[in-house]
Amino acid sequence: MYILGIESSCDETAAAIVEDGRKLLSNVISTSVKEQALYGGVVPEIASRRHAEYISATVEKALSDAGMTAADIDAVAVTFAPGLIGALLVGVNFAKGLAYSAGKPLVPVHHLRGHIAANYLTHPQLEPPFLCLVASGGHSHIVQVQDWCRYKILGRTVDDAAGEAFDKVARTLGLPYPGGPSISQAARQGDPHAYKLPTPHVEGKYNVSFSGLKTAVLNEVHNAEQRGQNVNVPDMAASFQERIAQILAKKLLMAAEDTKAKTICLAGGVAANGRLRQLVNDGAQKLGAKIYLPELKFCGDNAAMIATQGYYEYLDGNRGGLDLNALPTLEIDYR
Ligand code: KG4
Ligand code: ZN
Repeated sequence: MYILGIESSCDETAAAIVEDGRKLLSNVISTSVKEQALYGGVVPEIASRRHAEYISATVEKALSDAGMTAADIDAVAVTFAPGLIGALLVGVNFAKGLAYSAGKPLVPVHHLRGHIAANYLTHPQLEPPFLCLVASGGHSHIVQVQDWCRYKILGRTVDDAAGEAFDKVARTLGLPYPGGPSISQAARQGDPHAYKLPTPHVEGKYNVSFSGLKTAVLNEVHNAEQRGQNVNVPDMAASFQERIAQILAKKLLMAAEDTKAKTICLAGGVAANGRLRQLVNDGAQKLGAKIYLPELKFCGDNAAMIATQGYYEYLDGNRGGLDLNALPTLEIDYR
């Protein structure tokens, strides 16, 4: 079964074709990230405009790269939530028009379910149940993936998402957007023990909080400025990365131990972080759990993951009508 996936929830306009949820036939990503970097973050209006400009050509290229036309696909899967509303609407409306004109079923896909499904592309043998940390620019969840389309949230951030914390700290340190890759790069030359950063206290055993950590970095920068000095950027980047990776890994591994998870995964843009991958990998081995990490190219936003999850949603009977709406927020266990 051939699924065309469409993704436009943030600043990537993406289309991909996946066969039976596992075999990638094409994967096209057009991004406005360079333009967004001029403003230090995603400007929603710019994202929407670029999606509207890029979407036709992006979908056409995904079809032609796979040697197909719209007539050859079996369904159109589209990210409908959560994300920037104006950005999501471009993908949803395009998908609706295409599904209607080609006479194909429309399958709504939750963006975070897609991030989790990126693991199926990298690891054909992976099947639920497993425990997954989903960490992106907008979300940080510890989720039990009970079945292809069944989820239970065990923990979440009570304030900033992990990726958002990377982005904000990068901005404070004068590093370019997106913050995750630029902090990781700066951290390579830094000492992760140079600055003592706090582990913010948070209610809820598997919940995380990053706003205190972000403020601690800000305070160090301001204190240094008042003394007429600068913080050492590589040292601060390394110290921040170490602290946030330790917090995320610790909570995930604690949840894995308590729930006796046999398999652990990472998902979302922050899953590309080398230090986080290393800590989770080492911790999972100690627990005797299998660990699956998505390939770096499937960590950030893409449509292959939407086509993959779309396949399982299709099999689960999930369909969207012409009245399908885009939603800026929606829980992963909504259905
Ligand atoms: O999943 P994603 O591509 O988009 C959303 O759904 O939000 O995640 C983007 C986030 C950004 O905040 C970015 O800074 C972060 O993922 N990110 C990273 C790394 N690469 C991207 N964070 C830490 N380390 C990285 N290597
Ligand atoms: Zn995402």
